Amino acid sequence: MEICALGERPPVGEVPEKMHAFTVRQDRFGEPKDAWKREVIPTPAIAPDDVLIYVMATGINYNNVWAALGQPVDVIADRQKRGEPEEFHAGGSDCSGIVWAVGGKVTHVKPGDEVVVHSGWWEPDDPWVLSGRDPMLAESTRIWGYQTNYGSYCQFARAQSHQCQPKPKHLTWEAAACYLLCASTAYRMLMGWPPNVVEPGDVVLVWGAAGGLGSMALQIAKAHGGRPVAVISDEGKRQFCLDHGAVGAINRNDFDHWGSMPDIDSPDYGTWAKGARGFGKAIWDAVGERVSPRIVFEHPGEATLPTSGFACATGGMIVICAGTTGFNVTLDLRYHWMRQKRFQGSHLSNDEQAAAVNQLVAEGKVDPCLSQTFSFDEIGDAHQLMHENRHPYGNMACLVNATETGQGAS
Ligand SMILES: NC(=O)c1ccc[n+]([C@@H]2O[C@H](COP(=O)([O-])OP(=O)(O)OC[C@H]3O[C@@H](n4cnc5c(N)ncnc54)[C@H](OP(=O)(O)O)[C@@H]3O)[C@@H](O)[C@H]2O)c1
Repeated sequence: MEICALGERPPVGEVPEKMHAFTVRQDRFGEPKDAWKREVIPTPAIAPDDVLIYVMATGINYNNVWAALGQPVDVIADRQKRGEPEEFHAGGSDCSGIVWAVGGKVTHVKPGDEVVVHSGWWEPDDPWVLSGRDPMLAESTRIWGYQTNYGSYCQFARAQSHQCQPKPKHLTWEAAACYLLCASTAYRMLMGWPPNVVEPGDVVLVWGAAGGLGSMALQIAKAHGGRPVAVISDEGKRQFCLDHGAVGAINRNDFDHWGSMPDIDSPDYGTWAKGARGFGKAIWDAVGERVSPRIVFEHPGEATLPTSGFACATGGMIVICAGTTGFNVTLDLRYHWMRQKRFQGSHLSNDEQAAAVNQLVAEGKVDPCLSQTFSFDEIGDAHQLMHENRHPYGNMACLVNATETGQGAS
């Protein structure tokens, strides 16, 4: 079979030579709405540990905003340096779908299985991985559908079999597609760095709490007995956060001390410190007692990190997975060492962490927070909304082979 239409199902196991996909090419790096375009590309071959997934729906993530912009990394050039010839990036790091074909070494899934796919990818023969240590720290680790090609914006996505988790049965294809990247990242941030893991009663400060990561962090913290405090930028998001586990919410527009921390000898320092202290007090007000966050869930980076460092409790952890507002961060080291705080980088998740959070979703303790479902042809528009911070609260999805919303739940 040469190609099938979106939604048309060849017999399970039969793989068309070509497929529909959304791609970025280097000559159109820029605004996501123009960079992402629909194309017909060859369906990829699979390696012995790989699976081919008939994608029903895809999630939309910030990483493919970065891929469209070509910044901070040109993912196509990066892969070409490693010997991959493709001149396109067929991205997408979150999906629900059906296992359609499996490589010779695959044992734990089979054609016909309904799955969701987490985006931790690593070379199976990486010595670090073979040694049994956390594969997310391996040299070969990549983000599936960002640093690898043929992700979930493809009619048939190529993934490694270990990435597959069972699709929670109660979810539609689009709800199942939208959460796992953010949920697994948030889970590792909150539960993956002992002894700084969420414990009952812990206050957890969550930046961007109505966003993809934030909405998952609120619910994961709550599921472990924590008391999450949400940070938002508009009042419309307050109720959403309270409904998803926050004990209170702070509107960051009530403060204006954002950005780098001024030199402590400059006159501006006093103004900055007043803002940071006021923000710390707002956390106590939200909690209802004078308790500071034992975990600060960070991703804005440059604009907020000095405040995060200041607000974090003695012995607490600022855990960060991104620098959406910039990468040059400042931190008041006096408070950092005297109060023995921890500044921890975190990136995606390993299989166990993805499985643990998927189980929370399957048990109904974490809702995917599907915000809006778009058509396949709107993949670029959904990224544009995200780029402009105009996207709806929670996580977005786009249909791929699913022809209508509301299907797939049992
Ligand atoms: N390393 C990893 O494994 C990993 C995994 C997932 C995501 N990420 C990264 O994490 C970042 C967030 O992802 P996401 O999916 O949560 O995106 P998102 O849905 O766009 O949410 C980000 C939130 O950040 C807040 N924000 C925007 N500008 C801000 C500012 N100047 N100061 C404070 N908060 C600000 C916004 O909330 P308010 O405007 O309401 O404050 C927004 O809702 C992205 O850079 C993404 O690439 C990394």
